[in-house]
Amino acid sequence: MIRNNMHISKQFLIVVFIILTCCLVGCKAQKRQVAQFKADDGIIVGFSQIGAESAWRTCNTRSVQDAAAEKGVQLVYDNAEQKQENQIKALHSFIAYQVDVIVFVPIVTDGWDNVLQEARDAGIPVLVTDRKIDVEDQSLYAGFIGTDSLKEGRNAGLFLLDKFEDSREHFEATGDYINIVEMFGTEGSSVALGRAEGFREILETHPEFRIIYSKSGDFLRSRGYELAVEFLDMYEDIDVIFSHNDGMTLGAIEAMEERGIRPGTDIVIVTIDAQQAAIDALREGKVNCVIECNPKTGVEIIKLAERLAAGENIPRLQYVHEEVFYETDDLSLIEPRGY
Ligand code: AHR
Repeated sequence: MIRNNMHISKQFLIVVFIILTCCLVGCKAQKRQVAQFKADDGIIVGFSQIGAESAWRTCNTRSVQDAAAEKGVQLVYDNAEQKQENQIKALHSFIAYQVDVIVFVPIVTDGWDNVLQEARDAGIPVLVTDRKIDVEDQSLYAGFIGTDSLKEGRNAGLFLLDKFEDSREHFEATGDYINIVEMFGTEGSSVALGRAEGFREILETHPEFRIIYSKSGDFLRSRGYELAVEFLDMYEDIDVIFSHNDGMTLGAIEAMEERGIRPGTDIVIVTIDAQQAAIDALREGKVNCVIECNPKTGVEIIKLAERLAAGENIPRLQYVHEEVFYETDDLSLIEPRGY
């Protein structure tokens, strides 16, 4: 059954009632009545979000909800609280209730084939957003819209090449490495895998850089703090922190400051998301580079959902615009972030 945190509009309850009633009198009648109801009242989109682990995520959810409200689209929202099994349950509910389109943020890449096959069998198109999936049959979903995590990782690597421009000669002369610790996002998630891959791709031809520590902090500020306590105890010679999100970065900054380590000065910090608190830290010199991961995808998501509901094809892959903010930029020009 539908879970407590799934918010259902009054109209949606009416649709459910009609569906259940019609089950008693036969499928044909059911399809006719639901179709008639929908024609009068706009489309219904089932939206499965992974949780509220970060400021980024909360903004992403709000963006989709606001865009749906703006366009008169009925959104059936489910918060999976970081569990894939909850997401699969939500998708099953959306299928049972015959929503017009399913939009979902897959917490991890694997394990979606069966439920997506069920959506296809029910004739419901699926739009994947923010994180990518790995399915055998690519046609099980209509398209993806979100950020380019590989590029985000590459941008982090490129910033370090620039920041440590003269280090290669120093390394060749002394053998002194540039030691990096990586705070990894949720294991098995496409964004964490993409960020890690893009970062390594840039640095692999630069032997002066080495990753001495890499652990998942699950995109949580509290875990970022815990990881930092661990790696700051383990190593005295950390040069760089590469953090897969701002939440973990803010936790690590707290742990560093408690130890009298100056973030951004004693240890260079590269972080992803660009939430307001990270931009503030960039302005204070506590962070050296902030790579944007754009959460404001709601308007585009709803447009694509409407096209899918109308039976149209959509692009297979759509990346949203993202920026990189460097310590050397004129930081007074950065607009308030809104998250
Ligand atoms: O999938 C996007 C990532 O998930 C963001 O970088 C992070 O903050 C969020 O929780």
